[in-house]
Amino acid sequence: MNRVSILVFHPLMHKSRVNQKLALAVDGMEGVSTRFMYDIYPDFYIDVKKEQEVLLESDTIVWQHPFYWYSSPSLLKEWIDLVLEHGFAYGRKGRALEGKQIMSTISTGGRREAYLSDEDGKFSVRQLLAPFEQTTTLCRMNYLSPFVTHGTHLLDENGIGEAASGYAKVIGALRDGLYSTEELRKHEYINDLIL
Ligand SMILES: Cc1cc2nc3c(=O)[nH]c(=O)nc-3n(C[C@H](O)[C@H](O)[C@H](O)COP(=O)(O)O)c2cc1C
Repeated sequence: MNRVSILVFHPLMHKSRVNQKLALAVDGMEGVSTRFMYDIYPDFYIDVKKEQEVLLESDTIVWQHPFYWYSSPSLLKEWIDLVLEHGFAYGRKGRALEGKQIMSTISTGGRREAYLSDEDGKFSVRQLLAPFEQTTTLCRMNYLSPFVTHGTHLLDENGIGEAASGYAKVIGALRDGLYSTEELRKHEYINDLIL
């Protein structure tokens, strides 16, 4: 069984409709730990050693957040800047994360059609996530296809419930190692593989 750590980065969790339900659906699953990062670090003073311990104890790491300006809320950037240290995460001797799986879980106000890269001036979610992918590649990790929930403003309670149960299925599949890493990486979205 893979140990899964889900790091939730949402600055306004009490106002969240989607990420709150997604987190609730996986919280308490056996082998899965969920950490609400804005609650742990409201002042942005990240405990680097603690975060590195969490990574060392995990086989699969998930960065869960809403899409903010085609990227993440700022605490995730701070976390990346501080936690993925040279000599730990990358560099000649920085091999602590080698071979671990990592996945982005994204919710977007925009519908899937808003992220069709063949249209003028538009980039796909995968293209926009390139800095996250390349960062984790430098750390010798396996960046999986993202779990994406689009069109959040249009989703009613049923739609959000479906997204949440789909998420629980995906996290369960990652925990139980139901798919090869190669399979988990090659789809546009992990939703397309598992759901
Ligand atoms: C500061 C800010 C920036 C946002 N930027 C984007 C964006 O770039 N693309 C997009 O599709 N939605 C964007 N949104 C919409 C959020 O992604 C959406 O409200 C969120 O995913 C809903 O999830 P929640 O119910 O958990 O908050 C933005 C929202 C805020 C508040």
